[in-house]
Amino acid sequence: MILLKIGGSVLTDKARASTVRKDFLRMVAQQIANAKRDDLVLVHGAGSFGHPQAAAYLSKGRSISDAWKTHRAVSSLNTLFINELHSQRVPALPIHPLDSITLDGGRIARFDMAVLGLMLENDIIPVLHGDIVLDSADGFNILSGDQIVAFLAQRMQPEKIGIGTDVDGIIYKGEKISHLNANEFENYRKEIVGSSVVDVTGGMLRKVSELVEIAKAGIQSEIFNATRGGNIAKFLISNQQVGTIISIGTK
Ligand SMILES: Nc1ncnc2c1ncn2[C@@H]1O[C@H](COP(=O)(O)OP(=O)(O)OP(=O)(O)O)[C@@H](O)[C@H]1O
Ligand SMILES: [Mg+2]
Repeated sequence: MILLKIGGSVLTDKARASTVRKDFLRMVAQQIANAKRDDLVLVHGAGSFGHPQAAAYLSKGRSISDAWKTHRAVSSLNTLFINELHSQRVPALPIHPLDSITLDGGRIARFDMAVLGLMLENDIIPVLHGDIVLDSADGFNILSGDQIVAFLAQRMQPEKIGIGTDVDGIIYKGEKISHLNANEFENYRKEIVGSSVVDVTGGMLRKVSELVEIAKAGIQSEIFNATRGGNIAKFLISNQQVGTIISIGTK
């Protein structure tokens, strides 16, 4: 099984509320279609269909109405993405975290994976997404697509894990690094920050932190630029490295 996250930074214009990048949506779906993998689990981020709405939820008194607006926004991006996948003949269906996952203090506590398992058995590609989710400790909390990736990586032991975003990988001293040794994360941390736009899930720093945790459990992942033509195809079909690999030890 291959686990692939497509960042909201790829599918949407994060600088403009609820604005999809139609050309990228099509380009992503085409590469997924051409790869012809039925053992694929997709996760996507919220981009401007969720981060601004979640920021409003957090700052405006955490109303259920604002929680709904956040879920509605990211669900609508999920629908747009799945429509595009279907137009490229990719048999994809949604799994909405609000309905299937609960958190405890911001971390995934329960996830009934029966639906996901049956989708894969039926050659259906599940498409999960960052979402606003009920938290047993505290009303709702924001669940990032990156945390979903880390959780599924540990549960499902995929053969490959890719995190597509809008930069070439982890940038350190102005250049992409090809490998991050999870044991040396602290040396790089000061150069890895959040996001240049509204991002309620901590941008690159929280993303890398999630991936460093799974690397310490022996699970390797790769952050790459999914806006660059062909990178998703390269990731899905070949063994060619396109971004930054995060693993334990030297590569
Ligand atoms: N050292 C770094 N290397 C690379 N990117 C960095 C670094 N520090 C901060 N960033 C920022 O992280 C951003 C990517 O994280 P961001 O959360 O915005 O994207 P995403 O996770 O793909 O989108 P979404 O959260 O909507 O799924 C980059 O656009 C960049 O501005
Ligand atoms: Mg992000």
